Amino acid sequence: MPYKKPWGGRFRDATHAGLEKFSASVAFDRRLYRHDLRGSLAHARMLTAIGVLSEAEFNQIENGLEHIRRQIERGDFQWRESLEDVHMNIEARLVELIGDSGKKLHTARSRNDQIATDLRLYLREQVDELCRSLSALQRALAERASAEAGTILPGFTHLQSAQPITFGHHLLAWNEMLQRDYERLRECRARVNRSPLGSAALAGSGFAIDRQMTAKELGFEQVCGNSLDAVSDRDFAIEFNAVAALLMVHLSRMAEEIVLWCSDAFHFIDLGDAFCTGSSIMPQKKNPDVAELARGKCARVSGNLMALLMLMKAQPLAYNRDNQEDKEALFDSVDTALSCVEMFAAFVPQMVLHRDVMLAAAKRGYATATDLADYLVGKQVPFRDAHQTVGKIVNFALQAKAELSEIKLADLQRFHAAIEKDVYAVLSVEGSVKARDHIGGTAPKRVAAAAKRVLRMLDSRVV
Ligand code: ARG
Repeated sequence: MPYKKPWGGRFRDATHAGLEKFSASVAFDRRLYRHDLRGSLAHARMLTAIGVLSEAEFNQIENGLEHIRRQIERGDFQWRESLEDVHMNIEARLVELIGDSGKKLHTARSRNDQIATDLRLYLREQVDELCRSLSALQRALAERASAEAGTILPGFTHLQSAQPITFGHHLLAWNEMLQRDYERLRECRARVNRSPLGSAALAGSGFAIDRQMTAKELGFEQVCGNSLDAVSDRDFAIEFNAVAALLMVHLSRMAEEIVLWCSDAFHFIDLGDAFCTGSSIMPQKKNPDVAELARGKCARVSGNLMALLMLMKAQPLAYNRDNQEDKEALFDSVDTALSCVEMFAAFVPQMVLHRDVMLAAAKRGYATATDLADYLVGKQVPFRDAHQTVGKIVNFALQAKAELSEIKLADLQRFHAAIEKDVYAVLSVEGSVKARDHIGGTAPKRVAAAAKRVLRMLDSRVV
């Protein structure tokens, strides 16, 4: 039996077959079925409380919705493209199951406030999911940072050896980025968590609806204050996508470093077979796929952000069908960010470190030149003069093909009389990192303390 469209009364002709396909969203918005059922149940309960539905009708609706949920989850719900979207598919089935009571469910409601509600319920849940996986990744980083608080490697600026740092310090830098992403997600969640339900098509409803009641039942913190705005703006989704795009930019930076570190040229880490693939032609290859894919997936999430921004641009109030186009971009950003964070959380603990290679690299490239300048400052030499002197010493070392610590004291003293035997303590990479002993510094003691602080903070986190 062909399904009658809800707007059939107004129309004489059947929908063009091409338009049905063109306008249907059920292929992707069926992912919102749980949120749609939940919203409908809350709406029905409220209609009952204000006397629009009887208890008996409510019970039928409740049972019908539950029946539909089970059917969907068993996989034997028949989704119909001709019924356009998740809302009409569920409603049509409800009417099929319970008759007239089902037809009453849509009283004082429109698909416009329905989809806005569904989307917010969905996104709130996904934000929490993403926060949980971010917490797991942060924990993995902090645990490794704690174990590697004293592991030395070169720190870079301009990708040139700059100063020695500890591996734990580097991991905690990643954690800082993710910590801010986490905070942004929590802040964005508060704006997602508002109820549009009751805005109906755009102007609200003539029934004495209780919007606080549905908001409370659905766990929303607030009721959206204006019905026109509530059904039309998707800034909450845009904001989430912006946060996700930034998170992906951070992951791409981590990914890039991982790719560099496991290259032959660096050889700082090995990724472990479980997280690599080989080449179909070059037998020696082991490629850092997780990192490369995460770096690449950053592109689609920032592309989705641009799509959502442009979708919203210049839309007049209130709801416009354009907004149906928000879903695939949003879903893709959610899925992509989540899968990348989960992969990183799984593989950070598996990274095999080549500590000897890192240490050797830190000793190359005159990474303690700044320490030598600081040493001279300690002997009352003005910093700018010290900088000049050390520049000359580095030049000498380059000619002699020696590291700073390999230059004889007599040779050093030719550059500055203030240099004494104790200079060799500051020329060591160990001495260099140890000296950076302040909040946010790379000294092993500080890194260990910072890692502990992060772990304690994560222990008290709810999601
Ligand atoms: N599928 C629509 C969307 O995703 C639901 C709302 C449709 N409302 C309408 N009046 N056609 O936005």
